[in-house]
Amino acid sequence: MTEIQDATPAVHTDTLPAIELVGLVKSFTSHGEVVQAVKGIDMKIAEGEFFSMLGPSGCGKTTTMRMIAGFDEPTAGEVYLHGGNVVGVPPNKRDVNMVFQSYALFPHMSVAENVAFGLKRKGVAKEEVTRRVGEMLEIVGLTGREKRRPKELSGGQQQRVALARALVNNPRALLLDEPLAALDLKLRQAMQVELKRIQREVGITFVFVTHDQGEALTMSDRIAVMNDGLVDQLGSPREIYEHPASKFVAGFIGTSNLFSGTVSEVVGAEAVISYGPDERLVIQVSTGQVRVGSEIELTVRPEKIVISIEAPHGNGSAVKGTVTEVVYLGTATNYNVKTSTGADVVVFTQNATSAGDIAVRGDSIWLSWEPRHSYVIGA
Ligand SMILES: Nc1ncnc2c1ncn2[C@@H]1O[C@H](COP(=O)(O)OP(=O)(O)OP(=O)(O)O)[C@@H](O)[C@H]1O
Ligand SMILES: [Mg+2]
Repeated sequence: MTEIQDATPAVHTDTLPAIELVGLVKSFTSHGEVVQAVKGIDMKIAEGEFFSMLGPSGCGKTTTMRMIAGFDEPTAGEVYLHGGNVVGVPPNKRDVNMVFQSYALFPHMSVAENVAFGLKRKGVAKEEVTRRVGEMLEIVGLTGREKRRPKELSGGQQQRVALARALVNNPRALLLDEPLAALDLKLRQAMQVELKRIQREVGITFVFVTHDQGEALTMSDRIAVMNDGLVDQLGSPREIYEHPASKFVAGFIGTSNLFSGTVSEVVGAEAVISYGPDERLVIQVSTGQVRVGSEIELTVRPEKIVISIEAPHGNGSAVKGTVTEVVYLGTATNYNVKTSTGADVVVFTQNATSAGDIAVRGDSIWLSWEPRHSYVIGA
């Protein structure tokens, strides 16, 4: 399972944001057809934050980053960096640096020369270049490999050279566009830890683009989940995982079980969808969110559901079903269940004891969970 960050990140959203996007739109005209890559994005990224943009291929992540960096100008809207409007300002005059997915190191230059390149071009004095390159290689853990060529390094080491090359310019924010996509899983996980460490050490704002939800959940202070040129939800990893704001977010972030039905009763902060005398869904709602007769959709995460042979006690959700598949995963077991109303549900159970499976394929079982573990979607 993905480990999730604490609910309260060290983010100061009340002070001047490092990056602010206001009504950002980008259209391209290709072969006479207008493509709206970004359809109106508003967001504030705080100073020192590890901020991720997460979304499927083509949702507009790279286009948004290119407008922040200045490689593309918006069709409409504004980009503010540390309070200043930068629309029309060229990339090299913006206080940000971008690391591209294909990090394109100079193959004929050594590691040190690659990192020094930008500083030399700016005319920084030789001793200072040597000092800053040395410091940066130390931070990314490449001291001793100064003389190597990129092809003599592993993928992760090349990635760290690209990082050092961007960080050596002392940008106030670093934009990283899927920097780990080219790495295999193990290296990728090691680099996730490294990136977090480096960000803590240099203390600058990181904007990180990924289409990997696990990566975004483990690394970020906050995440913007993007869908088709818009931000569907912006929040901490925990908020996004536990309270998905849309069906898209619920489905994109991990496995989510969706139910739908008609509200039959609202009592205080709880709404009930009943399926007869003993089956019901019970959800926490805010005042006025739903009424008796409302058609609603709700979500519950697989690890919140309890499977039992006996009918559950308590006043939470209780649904009957039949086990259709049991998948043993070592530390956990996944159960696929078809409910009496025909919905497919996934249940994730930790194998804390070695007592064996709770149920086998074909068993009639009960699913139950507490009201606080399911949420109305999109209400
Ligand atoms: N220069 C361009 N001309 C025309 N269309 C473009 C251009 N650049 C991007 N697009 C379109 O804009 C949309 C968003 O593209 P973008 O590269 O921002 O997506 P992305 O979220 O970064 O995707 P991926 O995860 O695949 O990198 C896509 O439909 C893409 O085809
Ligand atoms: Mg992209």
